[in-house]
Amino acid sequence: MYQERNADKVRLWRGTGINRLVADDDADSSDSMLEKIPHLNNQVEAMVNNALEDSTGYTKTKEETRELLDYIYSNETVQENTAHSVSEELTNKLEEYEPSKILSLINALAPIDEYLYRHSMNVGLLNGLIGKWSNMSADEIFNLVLIGLLHDCGKALIPPPVLNAPRKLTTVEFEVMKMHAIYSYDILSDFPGTVRIAARSHHEKLNGLGYPYKFIGKEIPLEARITAISDIYDAMVSQRSYKKSQSPFKVLDELSKLKGTELDSDLVDLYVKNMPKELIGKEVVMSNGKIGVVHSINYDDIVYPVISYGGREIQSNEYWYCTHMHISDDDDAQSGKITPNEPQTAYQTQEAQTQTTVHRLLKSAR
Ligand SMILES: [Fe+2]
Repeated sequence: MYQERNADKVRLWRGTGINRLVADDDADSSDSMLEKIPHLNNQVEAMVNNALEDSTGYTKTKEETRELLDYIYSNETVQENTAHSVSEELTNKLEEYEPSKILSLINALAPIDEYLYRHSMNVGLLNGLIGKWSNMSADEIFNLVLIGLLHDCGKALIPPPVLNAPRKLTTVEFEVMKMHAIYSYDILSDFPGTVRIAARSHHEKLNGLGYPYKFIGKEIPLEARITAISDIYDAMVSQRSYKKSQSPFKVLDELSKLKGTELDSDLVDLYVKNMPKELIGKEVVMSNGKIGVVHSINYDDIVYPVISYGGREIQSNEYWYCTHMHISDDDDAQSGKITPNEPQTAYQTQEAQTQTTVHRLLKSAR
């Protein structure tokens, strides 16, 4: 109720120019006040992203995910039918909407207290996108979505003071938290082995420094290697009580740095090659608080895209950079598509080659 009332209030604010908050130099004094409090500003922005959510059915699925997780947290078991039905809804969204729209839902700033539900859904959706990008079968994609949805269900057994600590965990607390991977395996006792083992292995790292079993390289199942990337991506673009959200560009760069040491190189490549074009044409909030539009992305400098801003195309940099995506009411999946005559043509060709190579490697790894 509290949240609904706030959402109503924010809609009213929006009517009086919440978009101007970051777009208009002549913002009134209340807007200016919010601009000076970035964390509050982000929370307000998170609450006005409802239109896109509602129109895609994400809100409805989010409520079902909330019920699914609430049941797990109360009963320490999973209702298999509900998990399957939510996974089916998510899989349908992957069929129904362009990847750019799915990514808009994932990249949207969300209220901090919805992280638990959204993270489960978003990891499911991201897993599904990786499945699509590597031409997996419908069954394989569904399985990946289900794994993403349930990968963290073992957190139901983690004591709330540790689970909800609004800060970096102590060494002892982190050891407790690490148990959630094994708990996920236990709670999923009625599910197929691939789902259980992938959930248990989603924090393993290629270099053997992950947990719980310090598996190395291909000892980690493919589904878990995929979920590890989706998990990190969504965690990094999400705002939490103890950290700000990060832009997808920054996150893609961070994922690239983990290639071969923690994360599967072929899978990260698949991600990095497919995702940027979905972000072109999207609105972003810049470090000066104003809104720009992603014009183009240079592969060699993915953190700093060229931004359409104030009628010009300007290269972003370490002093003027994207902080997070901005989702407008009329967010349009068709905008920002790469056309053959633009400089991104080479990028497209490279992407297609990479996709074929990665698909072959994925198949041979099975
Ligand atoms: Fe986890």
